[in-house]
Amino acid sequence: MDKQHKREVDRRRNFGIISHPDAGKTTLTEKLLLFGGAIQLAGAVKARKAARHATSDWMSIERERGISVTTSVMKFNYRNYEINLLDTPGHQDFSEDTYRVLTAVDSAVMVVDSAKGVETQTEKLMEVCRMRNTPIMTFVNKMDREGLPPLEILSQIEDKLQIECVPLSWPIGAGKGFRGVYNRYRGELFLFTPGEETRPREGVLVRDLGDPLLEERIGKRAAGRLREDVELLEGASEPFELEHYLNGSQTPVFFGSAVNNFGVRELLDAFVEMAPPPRARMTETRLVSPYEEAFSGFVFKIQANMDPAHRDRIAFLRICSGRFHRGMKVIHHRTGKEVTFANATIFLAQDRANVEEAYPGDVIGIHNHGTIKIGDTFTEKEPLKFTGIPNFAPEHFRRVRLKNPLKAKQLQKGLTQLAEEGAVQVFRPVLDSTYILGAVGVLQFDVTMARLKAEYGVDAVYEPVAYHMARWVTSKNPERLKAFEKEMAANLAFDAEGHLAYLAPSEWRLEFVSDKWPEIEFHKVSEHG
Ligand code: G4P
Repeated sequence: MDKQHKREVDRRRNFGIISHPDAGKTTLTEKLLLFGGAIQLAGAVKARKAARHATSDWMSIERERGISVTTSVMKFNYRNYEINLLDTPGHQDFSEDTYRVLTAVDSAVMVVDSAKGVETQTEKLMEVCRMRNTPIMTFVNKMDREGLPPLEILSQIEDKLQIECVPLSWPIGAGKGFRGVYNRYRGELFLFTPGEETRPREGVLVRDLGDPLLEERIGKRAAGRLREDVELLEGASEPFELEHYLNGSQTPVFFGSAVNNFGVRELLDAFVEMAPPPRARMTETRLVSPYEEAFSGFVFKIQANMDPAHRDRIAFLRICSGRFHRGMKVIHHRTGKEVTFANATIFLAQDRANVEEAYPGDVIGIHNHGTIKIGDTFTEKEPLKFTGIPNFAPEHFRRVRLKNPLKAKQLQKGLTQLAEEGAVQVFRPVLDSTYILGAVGVLQFDVTMARLKAEYGVDAVYEPVAYHMARWVTSKNPERLKAFEKEMAANLAFDAEGHLAYLAPSEWRLEFVSDKWPEIEFHKVSEHG
């Protein structure tokens, strides 16, 4: 194996941040980028977020699409590492994309608000991480505010997210009395000075917790309390095992305050040292190692350009093996066509630039005119198809009604393409010929309608439907499946890939039906074909 290739792979990290809105993801992102020197000014990421959220209608949000494209992947250097931070949109942008991005990362950082503990969106995102046993590092944020006792936060994480917590740092006080953290894994004390927006100073090395330096620095009471806490922890929590973190069963926990830039560098240091470099990924035929020389990658996100004059879209491709270089020829496995990557884009925190070369773990943007689908694989030689880039069961549904029936063809074309891009999911009920749209975030409906109109000239409206959940159904027993299809026809529909789904009016009904039909399997995700 080429030594340089191995070096490039090993120094790459590719991750996403999972959190509930307002826990501090934007603030943390900004501090991470500051450390990486990718942005110069505090406030840059924040300002973009504010610009996005000040506008309420989607069209004007998307007019800023240059912004959403550049924030989709933020690349920065730290020490000798090349880090790709993939954005997982929250708030009103929350959509299936948010989930799908998590299928393209090698690890995640979870941000928890110390006052609010584990919140719903974190639970949902964690569920997606669990599908691939993604390693998670936890940052408990806002320690400068009065919050829940640290042990309470840890037990919430363990109970609600079913992952073992190992606090690698421990807070000294909280809120007004927050003094800093003791880093158990380095044996270092970091003292907190409120309002310190610049890079924090070096930690204070303490030989062990008996070190009188502790009293000197934080006072007798706090030192005593810290000793008690850490002793208790050592008895109560499992020791940290890198293997357990890497297989997603244990999460190392850090405490800090993103807005005060406290604990962020500690987190980042631990992250680059422990988080996995690009990992091998499964295809339909075999496991592909990042160290392989031949190029391969898959598309996990497509960003549309709203300009009706140019129907170009940017497909985000995650490199899985080999080396990308400008002008290289690859095969688009689904169509079997050879394409030249002439002007792929690499994403820097603030700008886009043409890429000359890129390695596994990196994300490149490819311009296309609607020929690329989510889940598509590109390879240099061998025909491969990466798996694990699924559709997620929608949680919101609408029926589409055309205002002008003469536009039926355009509607069909538009919806087919939008489904291929992963903008929305399209279902055709078994019993009628209408279209039911499914989404994970309701904003997806506005986006779809706006794009149908702008790009396909379709004037349509939504009607409510009484579905609240969807599950793809399969069975090893063809006869029972047939019987199920007959009896449940009124609630069955085919998705854009031709997979059968059961649309349930309520969770209760779904449970009832799945109890009644034990031979039928109900799936929360469906692979792209
Ligand atoms: P998000 O991306 O997860 O939604 O969260 P974001 O970073 O925007 O942070 C949400 C709010 O929490 C912001 O306040 C932010 O300043 C604040 N925050 C983030 N980290 C900390 C922290 O360590 N301590 C404290 N006390 N607050 C923190 P905001 O009032 O919504 O916005 P702003 O006007 O302060 O920018």
